[in-house]
Amino acid sequence: MNWLQKLSQSTKAKPMALPFDLPEESYTGTSNIDNQMTDSTAREEQLRHNPEYLGSGSMGVVGLTDKGIAVKYTDVGGEAALAEQFMNDYVPCIPKIFEVRQIQTNPSLWSIAMEQVKLLPDNRETNIIVFLLEELLGPRSVVSREDKNKYKKEIKRLIKRYPYLKKLAADYRNMMDCLKSSEIDPWDINHTNIGYDQNGNLVLFDLGLSSLI
Ligand SMILES: Nc1ncnc2c1ncn2[C@@H]1O[C@H](COP(=O)(O)OP(=O)(O)O)[C@@H](O)[C@H]1O
Ligand SMILES: [Mg+2]
Repeated sequence: MNWLQKLSQSTKAKPMALPFDLPEESYTGTSNIDNQMTDSTAREEQLRHNPEYLGSGSMGVVGLTDKGIAVKYTDVGGEAALAEQFMNDYVPCIPKIFEVRQIQTNPSLWSIAMEQVKLLPDNRETNIIVFLLEELLGPRSVVSREDKNKYKKEIKRLIKRYPYLKKLAADYRNMMDCLKSSEIDPWDINHTNIGYDQNGNLVLFDLGLSSLI
């Protein structure tokens, strides 16, 4: 790198207020949060957590601290409230939550510090089976009985072809039972929002649209 490039990089204004640098590609959650986060909040978060970018979805953005903790930034008050509830009342289908904090008012933003989970492999068969399971078992399923039978057959076929999916399907059922008995009405269960926690439980880590029954 020549001195001119170096100089231009070192003086380049950080385009975003978020407390970490972003990869080239990220989802809309980054701009949603960035548009609302002030520079001073971003600086405070940098001092507090010094996070690196971990991921984003359509609503929020998540950083990873040097202690290996995932910190989600959200503008959804209901998500923060739900996280707070399950921080005090641990259930095995939600990641362990360490801290929920309102980091800014007007506009309101919260941080949710939680354990880092292992994401599902991003391949076609995993994405399809999670989709089919959600259509079969999700609380908002609108699939006809006929189609349910088709879906069940397709799940069987996938498991036969990719035997490792058998465990995922069983874990998914357990997670749904746990969410139900914890009185969580889950929204938005899909392959980008679930993963395995440190105890090997399949957990829903994105509580963005969920609520209590
Ligand atoms: N606890 C976590 N451990 C590991 N990765 C996470 C965790 N929380 C979020 N992520 C990553 O960040 C992405 C966005 O987080 P998510 O909570 O789904 O935000 P959104 O509400 O915008 O969908 C996830 O799809 C995942 O890749
Ligand atoms: Mg998500």
